[in-house]
Amino acid sequence: MAELKSWQARIGEATDALAQSFVESISYDRRLYKHDIAGSIAHATMLAKVGLITDAEREAIVGGLHSIQRDIEAGNFVFDESLEDIHMVVEDALIKRIGDPGRKLHTARSRNDQVALDLSLWVHDNAIEIGKKLRDLCRAYVALAQRSGDIVMPSYTHLQRAQPILAGAECLAWCTMFSRDADRCATAFQFTGTHDIPLGSGAIAGSSLPIDSGITAQLLGYEQPPLSSIEQTASRDQALEFLFSLAMAAMHLSRWAEQWVIYSSTEFSFIKTADRYTTGSSMMPQKRNPDMLELIRGRCGTVYGDLVSLLTICKGLPIGYNRDLQEDKRVLFRAYDTVSACVTMAAAIVNSTNYVRENIEPTLERGFLDATSLAEYFVTKGIAFRTAHKIVGTLVARCEAEKKSALAQLSVADFVETAKSVGANVAGIGPDVYEALGSRNVVKRYRSPGAAGGQPYVQRLAEWKQKLGV
Ligand code: ARG
Repeated sequence: MAELKSWQARIGEATDALAQSFVESISYDRRLYKHDIAGSIAHATMLAKVGLITDAEREAIVGGLHSIQRDIEAGNFVFDESLEDIHMVVEDALIKRIGDPGRKLHTARSRNDQVALDLSLWVHDNAIEIGKKLRDLCRAYVALAQRSGDIVMPSYTHLQRAQPILAGAECLAWCTMFSRDADRCATAFQFTGTHDIPLGSGAIAGSSLPIDSGITAQLLGYEQPPLSSIEQTASRDQALEFLFSLAMAAMHLSRWAEQWVIYSSTEFSFIKTADRYTTGSSMMPQKRNPDMLELIRGRCGTVYGDLVSLLTICKGLPIGYNRDLQEDKRVLFRAYDTVSACVTMAAAIVNSTNYVRENIEPTLERGFLDATSLAEYFVTKGIAFRTAHKIVGTLVARCEAEKKSALAQLSVADFVETAKSVGANVAGIGPDVYEALGSRNVVKRYRSPGAAGGQPYVQRLAEWKQKLGV
């Protein structure tokens, strides 16, 4: 029969092998080792400050924990599955290394507040990590915007041609989206606004010993002791908040991936990505498939699954710690690894991609992209927008009837005549109308903040360059 565990005094027999491999989490929670050790060092420091252990005991504990961390990082550490989880593995190793002082580390502490702390610290660190990666992705879009210079392309609403934009403006749209994701991940850590530390909550009810979790809070970067020991050991809200932020980023990635799958089709051919980020077909020799983009699009589904998993794991749980909560790490780590890999892949793809001017420009004047600009020209001549909208709608229909492909093919007399036919004041309409027509002219005329061309675009690009250090 296996050896009894530290908590097994009350339990008659040792866990059997089947049960042991069923309950263990060490196979995946070992990645919390750094956070677990940091939490234990802070805890020991606090215990010494309040006099529950001596300074010499604290020193032995801290020294032992450092040596364990060194061995783990050097690959010289055996994670014993029979010890279940990272908390017991570290504590067991500590007692083996330093003896009696090691037996005092768990004073006024439970694995319930310990795991809540470890996970919270992990969320903090990995929110920073993913934030860095998302900002690298933003930099890639800004660089692509710069490489794209003055390429003008159609924008789409309902996937129908809408208004002309600078290609760079679309890059800045993605940059804005992923920058918000980076910010959202960062705030996941502090979302409650109370920012209280889980450690010091004990198993559920706190402790009768004179611990001071204000000290541990301060040492580990929290603002205050637990607001409620019961809530802190029961809640996975912070992990969920982070997981939601990851799911949001995955959703954005899937939208971008889809957009670029479309842009790289033969029908569009708006972009060209380096061959190293495409794959061939085992049967069709001519193929160049955007598999990396498709996988990014598809993996969003697994991240949604992870978010729904954790929400569902927490659903209906009575307050207090329940072992169900151990499953949180499995799904959170998986979602994080997925999004992290997708963001890295996305940045590499963006860095290797260019818009293809020769494919975009020849068809640029299809679809009357300048219709809204013409309506706004009429507004500048004192015509009400609704009336202007009607005039331009009539003119587009007329072009189509006369097999003219662009509004610029109409004469000034045509514009005047149509405006007159709906009772508009035509006094101001003259040859300057052509300055409002043609996609290249139109993108230069945008003036509203955040617009997809003109001075607003130049300004935004400069701001992003400065903000991201591109
Ligand atoms: N491995 C556990 C988890 O991840 C640690 C907490 C276990 N607590 C307990 N009372 N069994 O949730």
